[in-house]
Amino acid sequence: MATLLLIDSSVSPEGVSASRAVTSTFRKTWEEQHPDGTVIYRDLAVDPLPHLDGVAASAGFSDPATHTPEQQAAFAVRTQLAEEIEQADAIVIGAPMYNFTIPSTLKAWLDQAIIMGRTAGETPSAKGTPVVVVASRGGSYAPGTPRESFEHVQNYLESVLTGGFGFEVHFIVPELTMAPSNPAMAELIPLFEASREKVQQEAVTKAKELAERVAA
Ligand SMILES: Cc1cc2nc3c(=O)[nH]c(=O)nc-3n(C[C@H](O)[C@H](O)[C@H](O)COP(=O)(O)O)c2cc1C
Repeated sequence: MATLLLIDSSVSPEGVSASRAVTSTFRKTWEEQHPDGTVIYRDLAVDPLPHLDGVAASAGFSDPATHTPEQQAAFAVRTQLAEEIEQADAIVIGAPMYNFTIPSTLKAWLDQAIIMGRTAGETPSAKGTPVVVVASRGGSYAPGTPRESFEHVQNYLESVLTGGFGFEVHFIVPELTMAPSNPAMAELIPLFEASREKVQQEAVTKAKELAERVAA
């Protein structure tokens, strides 16, 4: 049965959030292709994971048979995240740009979910799983723009998702989302509107493409 893992991390709700508008279109399209499938959903803004602490980190580097009760509890969270990743035929991650990088809630998910010797390392357990990152941002950091070098969402996630998990990574980038609310960006509103339309189409196309790879 087809399984989609969907992770949102925007602090803004549906109807306001640019990334949620795209992840929900992806989900809807995927579910149309796989009506009997499963969607594992995590809203990291609503239900944040704990930051990785010393107990959880040490549990990831030691034999489970030696774990203290505290390590067992902390490692259970990490194991749950690993299982969700391993069950998924595809993963969608909403990754809004906050202060030039990803939300801290998404970083916490990464720190907990990357387990050397399981989800990461020489033979990552979900190697090759396609991941679609919806990298929404208020401005534009596209090649050739003045703030290109401030882009630490796509550059970082490309590294960690391929170099850590071995995923196959795709990006959808809603940009200039602040244009309608920032008078200084008024002249960029047409570009924002074009981006908003484009990313919806990309979500549909990518969801169909990835859904077709999975047997019903
Ligand atoms: C705390 C915070 C920090 C932000 N920092 C940036 C930033 O560094 N660069 C940028 O282009 N937009 C920034 N924005 C704007 C968001 O990237 C923009 O609102 C985008 O649409 C967020 O995705 P979302 O609508 O799914 O939440 C920031 C927004 C918030 C709330």
